[in-house]
Amino acid sequence: MRQRFKIPVIASSEITPESVYLKRRDFMQAAGLAALPVLVGASQPARSDVVTGGAPLEYRKPSSSAEGFSTDEQATPFSDVTAYGNFYEFGTDKGDPARYAHEMTVDPWSLEVEGAVHKPGTLHLEDILGGFELQERIYRLRCVEAWSMVVPWVGFSLADLLKRFEPKSEARYVEFETLYRRSEMPGTRSFTSTIDWPYREGLRLDEAMHPLSLMAVGLYGKTLPNQNGAPIRLVVPWKYGFKSIKSVVRIRLLEKQPRTTWESLAPREYGFYANVNPNVDHPRWSQASERRLPSTLFRPNRIPTQMFNGYADQVAHLYKGMDLARNY
Ligand code: MTE
Repeated sequence: MRQRFKIPVIASSEITPESVYLKRRDFMQAAGLAALPVLVGASQPARSDVVTGGAPLEYRKPSSSAEGFSTDEQATPFSDVTAYGNFYEFGTDKGDPARYAHEMTVDPWSLEVEGAVHKPGTLHLEDILGGFELQERIYRLRCVEAWSMVVPWVGFSLADLLKRFEPKSEARYVEFETLYRRSEMPGTRSFTSTIDWPYREGLRLDEAMHPLSLMAVGLYGKTLPNQNGAPIRLVVPWKYGFKSIKSVVRIRLLEKQPRTTWESLAPREYGFYANVNPNVDHPRWSQASERRLPSTLFRPNRIPTQMFNGYADQVAHLYKGMDLARNY
């Protein structure tokens, strides 16, 4: 993963609340201004004001923060959550997902569940959005590159999804795959990309069945913007962000540990487990602290990183007896 420190284009003081810029967008569209080219800057700006999807969702609020489903920490503004991120299918710059992900078609959408299950099958977009009881989960997200956010996701437990397909007793691991559609994903057409598409991730089955493992379909109360992984993505809050695979089209239950994208590319830098751990540095940088977005050169907003990203009470037992420096 390329380690780049890019200062967000928008200072925190200038962040426009979502309601204000949505109104501004409506106004611009009504006035026929939205299609005008932007004159400042050599490249196209990050399209944080283009909210693809964005239909309101009905969901339940978490009852307490005791299980880790919520946090008192301040949520990262919508504009940062949607403007700054990683989605290499659209390019390696932090603004590329917001710039190009609107090119991805997310309706219709099919998610196949296969492998070691008694009832393999397909979920279509309407089953995904309408077939599960949606809950809000306010989670910390810690990228392996040492930046972080707090995101109010909307979704359902991965366990609820997996149970419907009845995992067989031999299932030990779960593999996930992102959509791979070259015509809509400029990053996959890049000559400099070394990723063997599609993007793949994996979990041990007990990690996948943990109540914190979430299939997110929305954030800030609305369907996911494309750049954040529409229409459905995984969120595993105690692991580095690269485990939280976006725009999932396939889930496969397996007996053996799957090969995952970043682990295959650089096994000494990115492990299969990827549990957030301030005591085990990345070979090229420290993991002891993180920049909490919004973060600028003058106000980096650097905070200490917590073991398991602050979810140790909920998940430490999953790794009892394991050497976490070896199983990074
Ligand atoms: N999923 C896919 N398909 N492609 C990616 O490049 N990047 C990962 C993860 N999921 C990535 C992905 C990384 S490195 C991070 S930090 C998170 O997405 C970022 O999620 P966000 O952009 O919603 O903050």
